[in-house]
Amino acid sequence: MPDTPPPRKLAAGNWKMNGLGADLAEARALAAAHAAPEVGVLLCPPATLISRMAEALAGSAIALGGQDCHAAAKGAHTGDISAHMLADAGASHVILGHSERRADHGETSAQVAAKLRAAWAAGLVGIVCLGESEQERATGRTLDVVGAQLAQSLPEGAHAANTVIAYEPVWAIGSGHTPSAGEIAEVHAFLRAHAPDPGITLIYGGSVNPANAADIFAIEGVDGALVGGASLKAADFGAIIAALRVS
Ligand code: 13P
Repeated sequence: MPDTPPPRKLAAGNWKMNGLGADLAEARALAAAHAAPEVGVLLCPPATLISRMAEALAGSAIALGGQDCHAAAKGAHTGDISAHMLADAGASHVILGHSERRADHGETSAQVAAKLRAAWAAGLVGIVCLGESEQERATGRTLDVVGAQLAQSLPEGAHAANTVIAYEPVWAIGSGHTPSAGEIAEVHAFLRAHAPDPGITLIYGGSVNPANAADIFAIEGVDGALVGGASLKAADFGAIIAALRVS
């Protein structure tokens, strides 16, 4: 595909189950500091904050995402949220298949694929997370594991405009430990080679912070980051965005 445009750089903040109304101040501060970033900037607050954050960020260059959606468009699914509801609340993206959802809720890659189809039907871009456990890496199974997750989580029709892939080694999340540059480069090259579209944005997640962001963005094949803890504070996430801009 010689005409494929380069992947769009993306810094996505996953607030996980953190954030109350008072924390909208951090989103406002981020928007004020990054009025027109050349890179994509996305905040994924808990669902309870999406509408209010959309109002707080109206007119800014920061996009909003959900952290999960149901595979059905609507119906009798108490406690769940549909992709259409996220879009209606102001989201343009949704994180799917995060390892915390795979662990806490037993989500399978087949379910992630169904959710991704639902996200597309609602006009959302799906950010599909995959990554190996510590034991899987220790036993040399990393590429087998992420390869299987990639094949099973992305249905027919995934391309650069509707899907982002986030490589998040489970053992790197919230641990302060990151893979070596060579390990990240190896997995990203593998994912790029096996992705349905070579122009797909491929981001890394797991203990990204202002101190290591520049080194991570310098790694071949890394188009950005999915940031957990360090996205909660505008100063920290802003520094990561700044590192991505100059990478
Ligand atoms: P941390 O940045 O807190 O390690 O979380 C990464 C993550 O899981 C983002 O989705």
